[in-house]
Amino acid sequence: MGLRLKFNVVLIVCYLLGLGVSVVPFYYISRQEVIEQLQSQIAVLRAQALSIRKYTSEEVQPLLADFSSVQFLPQTVPSFSAQTAFRNFREYYPEFFYKEAALNPTNPADLAEEWERELIETLRADPSLTRDVRIRETERGDHYTVAYPLTIRSESCLECHSTPDRAPASMVALYGPKNGFGWQLNETIGAQIFSVPMSIAEERIWRNLALFVGTASAIFFVLLLLLNILLNRLVISPVLRMAKAAEAVSMGDTSVPEFEHTGKDEIASLSRSFNRMRRSLDSAMKMLEA
Ligand code: HEC
Repeated sequence: MGLRLKFNVVLIVCYLLGLGVSVVPFYYISRQEVIEQLQSQIAVLRAQALSIRKYTSEEVQPLLADFSSVQFLPQTVPSFSAQTAFRNFREYYPEFFYKEAALNPTNPADLAEEWERELIETLRADPSLTRDVRIRETERGDHYTVAYPLTIRSESCLECHSTPDRAPASMVALYGPKNGFGWQLNETIGAQIFSVPMSIAEERIWRNLALFVGTASAIFFVLLLLLNILLNRLVISPVLRMAKAAEAVSMGDTSVPEFEHTGKDEIASLSRSFNRMRRSLDSAMKMLEA
């Protein structure tokens, strides 16, 4: 095996080993980072949903309160406006899911499904939890899911959610007297549930990984090329020339010119020794001939 091949094989093997060892931690760091990104996107979306809720209860509801006694307008309900706005948002980002799921909802569409019920029960069991984060397995792949508790903090909520007699008659006429009542102050009655497919995260992780491997490989191959050029110029080609000259001299060819390699490196010192040896050989031969 030539010097160049040995050199290249050792470097490439070292590079591949190094890459193999660093790709695994890189994957996990990148995954962590992408999940944090998802988490902060969800935090922004939640703030958005809460802002819409607040806008509805502070700006819209008071304006239409009188009208609601004649005909109940779901548009004045914070939960309705937050979820409707999110449906519009999904036209731009269909991969994001949002639901204000409740165990005993006013609108049957908000009834918690089995998996949502489990999240709500977890939040109900521990009132100190500010959110529940999990990666959920579904038929359509894993989903990153965050649930924030919906807890009744204000007495005003109970106007419509305690008993049908307290609620506006127009609301009871629209939603019926069975669901969405009996909620207690400080009770967690449901959850704001956000969900995003993990495939989005995986896509970003693989893109980061491809970028990392691509950049490292590009740098490595440029270095390898540079090292090969240097190896060729500084070592292989002078050694080959010297070997050729030594071969000719050993066959008795005295016309071979002296080997010239200026500089202070090891090859230059080898070439000087070689020339000296050759001169000694020449004079020894001459002495023998005389
Ligand atoms: C004016 C009556 C009214 C008030 C006040 C009110 N809600 Fe509601 N709430 C409703 C109605 C009606 C719905 C169903 C809306 C729909 O069709 O999506 C609802 C829906 C909800 C939902 C979604 C689950 C479900 O029941 O369908 C949550 C959660 C909720 N309200 C929480 C609250 C909280 C918290 C407050 C206090 C800040 C509050 N509500 C105040 C009437 C009211």
